[in-house]
Amino acid sequence: MIKIAPSILAADFTKLGEEVLEVEKAGADWIHVDVMDGHFVPNISFGAVVLNAIRPLTKLPMDVHLMIENPDLYIEEFAKAGADYITVHVEACPHLHRTIQLIRSFGVKPGVVLNPHTPVESIQHVLEDIDLVLFMTVNPGFGGQKFIHSVVPKVKQLAEIIKEKDLSIEIEIDGGINEETIIACAQAGATVFVAGSAIYSKKDRKQALQAIKKAGEE
Ligand code: DX5
Ligand code: ZN
Repeated sequence: MIKIAPSILAADFTKLGEEVLEVEKAGADWIHVDVMDGHFVPNISFGAVVLNAIRPLTKLPMDVHLMIENPDLYIEEFAKAGADYITVHVEACPHLHRTIQLIRSFGVKPGVVLNPHTPVESIQHVLEDIDLVLFMTVNPGFGGQKFIHSVVPKVKQLAEIIKEKDLSIEIEIDGGINEETIIACAQAGATVFVAGSAIYSKKDRKQALQAIKKAGEE
């Protein structure tokens, strides 16, 4: 069974609460929360106040993707705002092991994100410490970009390592996911799929979400 995590970055912010409830009703498994600081990525989105506002609306896990420099400074705030998963970019964490322990110290599940060019080897020594690996299949910073196919072999590489070491780690894909691009990623072993524009740009969110899920499960 695969999981779909709609990204609220693509939602209508004037009615964010309704937008969250609508994807929950449509069958979303997690809610993906994209936090951008204008430094690590060339765009600014929102901070923990937004997570705090939507947290009481749903029981779905909140999957917080920090595209920020110095994430250690903000992890406590996002934990207190109700994050279930916090993922940090390996490219933004010179002391990655410490950052992972910090996330766990607040009772939150830690994950690590790899940009499209970052090799799987960069996280091989923290695999025992994390619950989630997120592969970027676009350059982070914006929704609605084109899926980068060259990431798929990395997904397969990690899925094989996880199997071989008998680890329990979710493999999540983020960027350009739709009912076509999900297929190769699911076949490579990914288990969780972020979808922003492919769900929120559609009038019928349920139909869009279910079509993506079905394509990933075939
Ligand atoms: C990109 C974000 C993604 C993005 C996905 O920086 O991390 O989560 O919102 O949007 P789509 O699905 O439109 O590529
Ligand atoms: Zn994201």
